[in-house]
Amino acid sequence: MTSQNQLLTAPFLQLPSETSVRVVWFTEFAGTRHRVAYGENFAQSVVATTTKLSRTREDQESKVGNQTEDNQYQQPTRRDIWRHEAEVAELTPGKRVPYRVTSVQEDGASVTSEVFTLAPKPPQGTPLKILLTSDHQLKPMTAANLQKAVETMGKFDAVFMVGDLVNVPDRASEWFDDNRGGAFFPCFQGRAKTISDRNGIKTVYRGGEIIQHAPIYTAIGNHEVMGRFSMDKSLNEQFDDSFPRKAAEEIYTKNAAQLNNSDDPKVREAWLKDNSFNTDTYEEIFTLPQSKEGREKYYALTFGDVRLVVLYATNMWRYWGLEEKTRGRYRERGQDLNNPENWGYGQHIFEPIAKGSKQYKWLETELSGSEFREAKYKMVMLHHPPHSLGDNIVPAYTDPVQVREVNADGSIKSIRYQYPKEADYIIRDVKPLLESAGVQLVFYGHSHLWNRFVSPRGMHFLETSNVGNSYGAAVGDKKRPVPDGFNKENYAVTGDPNGLEAVVPTIAPLMGEDGKPLPYVASNEITAFSILDTGTGTVSSYRFDTVEESEVVKFDEFRLN
Ligand SMILES: [Fe+2]
Repeated sequence: MTSQNQLLTAPFLQLPSETSVRVVWFTEFAGTRHRVAYGENFAQSVVATTTKLSRTREDQESKVGNQTEDNQYQQPTRRDIWRHEAEVAELTPGKRVPYRVTSVQEDGASVTSEVFTLAPKPPQGTPLKILLTSDHQLKPMTAANLQKAVETMGKFDAVFMVGDLVNVPDRASEWFDDNRGGAFFPCFQGRAKTISDRNGIKTVYRGGEIIQHAPIYTAIGNHEVMGRFSMDKSLNEQFDDSFPRKAAEEIYTKNAAQLNNSDDPKVREAWLKDNSFNTDTYEEIFTLPQSKEGREKYYALTFGDVRLVVLYATNMWRYWGLEEKTRGRYRERGQDLNNPENWGYGQHIFEPIAKGSKQYKWLETELSGSEFREAKYKMVMLHHPPHSLGDNIVPAYTDPVQVREVNADGSIKSIRYQYPKEADYIIRDVKPLLESAGVQLVFYGHSHLWNRFVSPRGMHFLETSNVGNSYGAAVGDKKRPVPDGFNKENYAVTGDPNGLEAVVPTIAPLMGEDGKPLPYVASNEITAFSILDTGTGTVSSYRFDTVEESEVVKFDEFRLN
């Protein structure tokens, strides 16, 4: 927990327009007179609007305050956190000005941040450096990654982050003050403290002072989604307990009289949210562009010469094994078979994206609009990989097909899930749409490795999620986990299941044990980051060996067509 006289985060920038930008920060006190002072001698100021996060909690597995082992919290406990946001307006495009924020506590003491700089959206034609990142999740190398990114590039103009910001989004300390030092905001604000220990030589990484100066745009990954709400079950269990909205609606309909006897639509909506899944904490923390159809969940924006389309394409991650006790991606747990309220429904998709869905139609409209068509750089980001050597691209991104075996008495004997590859919505529906609209770069994460691909028509694919750790590349003897009896044509154990060859990095690939260049970075010692430079139209990737502590190496570069 923060002591009384400090802010919970440094301020950070959100949602710039041509002449304004929002400044956001958090405190653990309600306080008064929260404001931003800016400009020459901080002569101008603007008052913030304060809201309170509605779902942030800690529990027995939180690493916060003095709690290192399971002691301080015995069960989920609400944690009061206030969010302050002020819009600084009438700014001059292209001009950066200093700012700082102040909050006044109940006892009258005021707390002021350090000084940072803000700017509105850059005008078209401005050369920009944009950090492309994802999958931080408090992993061991995240702070080193962001620190090296700043040391290498200086200030960024924006951050595009393609999901999985923390592990369990309702656990407050994962965002603000996990006591192992690697929470989301500390890493992105240069206030982290993660220690790498190499043969007794300790190096402290502080992360990078990035989002105080540059707006961050994010996509929803599976780790932004909380499952069914509870004040008893641990936060990890709740995170694992997402339930399809449709299945929740069926339960609701059966019990509507009891759950909502006045038939209040608000009561219905709240019940459905608490009994399926939600992204409330994520949405409450960030102020992002919005679409009419998807609000903050999927949207598009223009930033300098870039038109960025952000999709909500992520599904529940479940374990692959077929053990009797597994509520997994391929089966229901033996004890739950005749109790549908306990089913996991496999790797169900949170927001439809298949052809004909609301999101798909929105995407079609966006891609045919003038802002997209006229943009110099056309980019799409989504959490789930269209092409990857990583594990998480299998099974296919499609609605799980439930297969039931029934006993003679009508009871259920087994439930399995299949994921037909020909119905992969990203490959079948979304990719052709992006390709025919002239998208140059598709950016994603989720599998925790760096690799990239180019389609025959020249569309680039980049997965830059080897940031904090790796889940490996499925190449050669390192096979994806697919249970026996699942056909390997449909569930590829190695390579890109969707038919592209990974591109060998153009400058300095890592070498395999056989002395041949590797077309990926999948390492728990070497971290990678990527930069889009709109001045040159290039995407450059850098790696840094956290064990050797050698120089940062630019290992790959490609140009957007
Ligand atoms: Fe993910």
